[in-house]
Amino acid sequence: MELFVDSASLDEISHALDTGVLDGVTTNPSKMKEAVELVKKQGKKVSLTAYIKQLCRMCKGLPVSLEVIGASYEDLVREGLLLHRMFNPVAKNVVVKIPVNPQFDTEKHRVHDGIKAIRSLSKKGVRVNCTLVFTPEQALLAAKAGAQFVSPFCGRLDDYIRSSHGMKFSKGEYYPAEGKKRWAKQWNDQGVVSGIDLVAQCVEIFDVHGIKTKVLAASIRNVRQLREAAVVGAHCATMSLETLEAALVHPKTEQGMKKFSDDVVPEYASLFKK
Ligand code: E4P
Repeated sequence: MELFVDSASLDEISHALDTGVLDGVTTNPSKMKEAVELVKKQGKKVSLTAYIKQLCRMCKGLPVSLEVIGASYEDLVREGLLLHRMFNPVAKNVVVKIPVNPQFDTEKHRVHDGIKAIRSLSKKGVRVNCTLVFTPEQALLAAKAGAQFVSPFCGRLDDYIRSSHGMKFSKGEYYPAEGKKRWAKQWNDQGVVSGIDLVAQCVEIFDVHGIKTKVLAASIRNVRQLREAAVVGAHCATMSLETLEAALVHPKTEQGMKKFSDDVVPEYASLFKK
């Protein structure tokens, strides 16, 4: 399973790279906003072109997802090609993030602009990560269009299911993969009971049909969700540096480490002084 960090902060990305087990980076306009604000706070001027080039350079060999901002087929393709032209030459690792569906007016038949853009970009050799996936069928259509990755948004789907039932929760709070039953009624969104269930259904569809597109579990908000994404066979997962590091923490590991350190006799310690 591939592990990605969801960040546009050079500092966070460099800590994540330092683990030696990072497989990629995902960004989005909100992550870029955070990064720009941080640089400004440090009293520095921001050249986002130079900044993104540096980001791509430091991640050489690992895919870096950069997102478009447009909402029509024409803009998605133009911006996707522009991002690819500007940043892919740096380290050949750019993946363009395209929303599965940026148009909501079904009457004008533009609801498929995202899918159409994924098809065009993929045909031109641009790798695509289809983002904002909330149903297995969106994932299927994106895969058919040629996306290399599809990103089901686990945390945000859990938020949606919980809040539509009036449940109060905090960002990052665990929501069970099997969803929730209240008064014998299973909470769900069009038959999907949780973010992890969404990932599981995408993985199953891709397996059954031999689809090569990778399921990138996104909007992973806590360690248990990461584990459950792994259990249901997500090919990749993207998370904050905080969640990635939290995956290494357990009180008994800390206690055990302390006991081993306390028990080191001088004879054993001297072995390491050679
Ligand atoms: C993924 O590609 C997205 O950038 C991200 O995972 C969204 O996470 P959030 O819902 O925690 O903002």
